[in-house]
Amino acid sequence: MSQPPQGRVLWLTGLSGAGKSTLASALYQELVSAGVKTELLDGDAVRENLSKGLGFSKADRDTNVRRIGFVAGLLAQHGVTVLVSAISPYEDTRREVLSKLPNACEIFVDAPLETVTERDVKGLYLKAISGEIAHFTGVSDPYEAPSAPSLHLRTDRLSVAECLDLLRPLAGLRTAVP
Ligand code: PPS
Ligand code: ADP
Repeated sequence: MSQPPQGRVLWLTGLSGAGKSTLASALYQELVSAGVKTELLDGDAVRENLSKGLGFSKADRDTNVRRIGFVAGLLAQHGVTVLVSAISPYEDTRREVLSKLPNACEIFVDAPLETVTERDVKGLYLKAISGEIAHFTGVSDPYEAPSAPSLHLRTDRLSVAECLDLLRPLAGLRTAVP
């Protein structure tokens, strides 16, 4: 039996609050509506299940990112379009994982620390800045920006709709799907 074509993997990386989940879930809805076989691997959901018990040391983050990459690879082999949204802060680990995925692209979901701190979607920046949470990405832990992403989205300058317009072609969609 012939294999389905390799699925695309769109890997969204960026600070907490940059907009990864917002964009990935909106694109996921569009892909589902368009009848595309799709899966969303979101950092928070992965950490509640596949990566339960892992913390935020470099070793644990790398393990988390490698697990996500492994599952993304399996799904993509079966023709599924995979959307990953995870901070994935280390360039070397992203490179390693993405290089094993034949049809993958890296998307830098970028907003300055000032913006994500203002957004403080989950109230975590306030806690991180006050020292209540240690090793918080961008505050007390590193975030290594991609050096050559396929797409660089400044979510402090572009609307969600504008970002989706730029993301759709990478997901194989030509137009917005209601
Ligand atoms: S990583 O670095 O890729 O393994 O992180 P990820 O799996 O995406 O999980 C990040 C979410 O965990 C919450 N959280 C923290 N983020 C960063 N640093 C620390 N110390 C931390 N503690 C908890 C946070 O809500 C992240 O979710 P997002 O969706 O990015 O806001
Ligand atoms: P992350 O998943 O990266 O932690 P979230 O998607 O949970 O980030 O939160 C991003 C926040 O920023 C949301 O409140 C969202 O409405 C807002 N936002 C503003 N502009 C944009 C944009 N262009 N793209 C994505 N999110 C945006």
